Amino acid sequence: MNILFMGPPGAGKGTQAERIVEQFGIPHISTGDAFRLAMKQGTPLGQKAKEYVDQGLLVPDEVTNGIVRDRLAAEDCANGFLLDGFPRTIAQAEALDGMLAEMGRKIDHVINLKVDRGFLLARLTGRRICKSCGSTYHVIFNPPKQEGICDKDGGELYQRSDDTEEKVGTRLDEYTSKTAPLLTYYGDKGSLREVDGEKDIDAVTTDIASLLRG
Ligand code: AP5
Ligand code: ZN
Repeated sequence: MNILFMGPPGAGKGTQAERIVEQFGIPHISTGDAFRLAMKQGTPLGQKAKEYVDQGLLVPDEVTNGIVRDRLAAEDCANGFLLDGFPRTIAQAEALDGMLAEMGRKIDHVINLKVDRGFLLARLTGRRICKSCGSTYHVIFNPPKQEGICDKDGGELYQRSDDTEEKVGTRLDEYTSKTAPLLTYYGDKGSLREVDGEKDIDAVTTDIASLLRG
């Protein structure tokens, strides 16, 4: 099954993706995670991405498309994948259509997590992530059992550098101007499904899984 997760920053794409890939046995492809890993490793890709990610701006399409093209060609994507955070511009969506056509594949489900802008700032500024396994928590909505420590592996929790109030504002503006038009793009193709992302985390997972199981 080939799935796309859409939704504004903080809608819950990463949180839900962690759960859905476990249920469906497919890889989770997050362009945001790929950029953060490259930035941590200090690779040329990471240095390029950092100029944009640190400001809350989208990384240029040609850089981003190349990563996804390589990743989709990997063996573990043969039985499906969940793309989280890509595409984010019309040009990226068109590039993805081209990649999939070359591979003789198509997107089966586009899930849009709908969350009102008013909820997003609190979700993002309260987010904490495990340094060792990447699991996502929230200081209020999804706290770890012990403050600052991952439940799964005892890893230290940290805050993303782009989760400050100022950068969240820029990211939301980027979303509105460049990514929101994709809802019309996929709506016109008939593949878009809306999920209420304002419910609690477990309820959203249940709604997504039942949509996917159709
Ligand atoms: P990326 O990492 O993709 O960030 P994003 O889209 O801004 O999305 P987030 O990861 O912030 O949010 P999410 O929807 O995954 O929410 P989460 O589940 O964590 O991209 C980062 C940067 O990389 C971009 O700004 C750009 O520079 C670059 N980039 C990436 N892809 C790109 C592309 N395709 N093109 C160009 N540039 C690209 O949840 C958020 C918080 O809320 C968590 O704390 C969570 O615990 C909590 N939460 C989740 N669900 C709920 C719920 N139902 N109720 C209460 N709290 C909840
Ligand atoms: Zn962990």
